[in-house]
Amino acid sequence: MSASEAVTDALRELHARFADVHEGRQADYIPELTRSDPGDFGLALVSMDGHSYSAGAADAPFTLQSVSKPFVYALALVSLGLDGVSRWVGAEPSGEAFNAISLEPGTGRPANAMVNAGAIVTTALVPDSRGEPAFGRILSCLSRFAGRKLDVDEDVYGSEAATGDRNRALAYLIRSTGSLPVDPVQAVDTYFRQCAVRATAVDLAVMAATLAYGGVNPVTGERVVPSGIAAQVLAVMATCGMYDSSGDWLLRVGLPAKSGVSGGLLAAGPARFGLAAYSPLLDASGTSVRGRAALAALSERLGLHLMKNPALPGSTVTLVTTADVLPSAPSGRLARALRERVGVVAAQGALDFTAAERVLYALDESGSEDAGPVVLDLREVTGADSDALVLLHAGLSRLAREGRRAAVVDPGDRLGPPDLVRERTGQDLPRFGSREEAAEQCARVLAGPGRAPTRWPRPTRGGR
Ligand code: DON
Repeated sequence: MSASEAVTDALRELHARFADVHEGRQADYIPELTRSDPGDFGLALVSMDGHSYSAGAADAPFTLQSVSKPFVYALALVSLGLDGVSRWVGAEPSGEAFNAISLEPGTGRPANAMVNAGAIVTTALVPDSRGEPAFGRILSCLSRFAGRKLDVDEDVYGSEAATGDRNRALAYLIRSTGSLPVDPVQAVDTYFRQCAVRATAVDLAVMAATLAYGGVNPVTGERVVPSGIAAQVLAVMATCGMYDSSGDWLLRVGLPAKSGVSGGLLAAGPARFGLAAYSPLLDASGTSVRGRAALAALSERLGLHLMKNPALPGSTVTLVTTADVLPSAPSGRLARALRERVGVVAAQGALDFTAAERVLYALDESGSEDAGPVVLDLREVTGADSDALVLLHAGLSRLAREGRRAAVVDPGDRLGPPDLVRERTGQDLPRFGSREEAAEQCARVLAGPGRAPTRWPRPTRGGR
């Protein structure tokens, strides 16, 4: 027993709650799928640290079917970019079943890459590369998302290849409108193979976690796709992943998700968790009944609904004050008076745009009316993304132009390398190892040239 078993307990509880649901039917239009065990029910969750939790038949293998679609969409996006892919397949919810003839009037372009029509086109967009046919690339991409080598269930592949006339008909129809770049039979064959790739609920949770983690597999640490592409895939999953119940799913569960007719279902909580379920009994839209209920309950229980403002950070700014109240402040009257004019701001955690705005606001609020220098202590900052840096640099540049200088306590270079800071802020920001040192230097500068052994570095040209 260990503390983190509490997470497994939560999954076990949900498993027990929904294991008795026997509604729904196995898909039988791919005959081999009826050989699955309708009693199988697995749940899995993978965190952004790659911690994995599961309950029930989370290691039972099944075929990905439509769960493969977002990952192949990601691969096509890597090859052609969003504009390149969008020439062939749209990104609008079709409001129709997964196997509908949802083609844009006029162009014949499928509505999105999650319905069969769009997925067949998407698969056809993945080019063969030197020495590796398209399906090899698809299988290796799916495997990298899952963090282990996946394989094809040849029986399920053969079963769908033998019966999949509707998909072949769709491919011919799309080809007739000019929206399929390759031979329809070849495109559908590769698509059937990708649908027959075998995985478990744990694999699905890792795959979802990889999208949630911005394209990096949190278990293997491998970057599978660029973060911008992970975001694009999640966006299409959010609006189209659950076909004609996508709107209701987003409303109630609030997560990008994808279902498959063998009973697999995954959902991604961006920057939080990858979730997955497996249970072969399906509702009318081709979604696992127990999976839907369990993931909805998990999202509710873990507070994952996207619209619930999960990103509001705790506190970014931990201190806004003046240097005279720092414990190190000298007791002399003059020294204290000087330090009263020195602002001090300390920040912590990971800085994004929202957090950077808080830091800049605190800089404005800090210090005295006569706008003396300010110490910005970033020692407790764990990182800053590029948007945060642009905003911080611009803010520090504005301060300098208004005559207010900043001294940073930034031994970890959270503000970026000195060259970049110089280029963006138009100055060599004085950097110090401690808050006390920085405050002392600011006070000396205020005291005037006679008392200040070191001058501020001169502003350089540039700086926005
Ligand atoms: O193309 C098909 O019909 C299947 N290989 C996949 C469909 C599917 O999984 C629909 N999702 N719920």
